Amino acid sequence: MPACARLPGVRVLFVCLGNICRSPTAEGVLAHLLREQGLEREIELDSAGTGAWHVGNPPDARAARAALARGIELTGAARQVEVSDFERFDLLVALDRHNRDDLLRVAPDEQARAKVALLREFDPQALAAGELDVPDPYCGGERGFEDVVEIVIPACAGLLEALRDRVSA
Ligand code: 4NP
Repeated sequence: MPACARLPGVRVLFVCLGNICRSPTAEGVLAHLLREQGLEREIELDSAGTGAWHVGNPPDARAARAALARGIELTGAARQVEVSDFERFDLLVALDRHNRDDLLRVAPDEQARAKVALLREFDPQALAAGELDVPDPYCGGERGFEDVVEIVIPACAGLLEALRDRVSA
């Protein structure tokens, strides 16, 4: 059986604070990995922010540059997470623990709370080191954006493996 046959319609929403730096980067990285593996039709991706300051804006130019340096294109316009996202998506993946706690606060019930995960928990090295947050790069320099890409790549690779396990279990 081809690998994609085991991934029927999984929907993943990445969530950070502003939805212009970290969550669009995670979305772009996982989309890139899915295309590399021919799985882009099996997993639906989106991203959102817990805050509304940047709604309608494209990804931050610094985030887009850092991703493009690794061959990854960032797309989309920022939006704020909605309660209906807990129905629309199978998994809501927070970029840091603040984002996760904010999601858990607005989740309408236990079933919704069970859909909330933390991205770096899918990276065994980060988990072992207790480094669970993707640091917010917004107020720093270009280097912080490059770090986000480097952190997000192994975490998204781990997430993709977990999604395979989840749907084939
Ligand atoms: P993000 O970064 O959560 O990774 O999109 C931020 C973007 C904007 C702000 C904070 C973080 N802000 O305060 O406007």
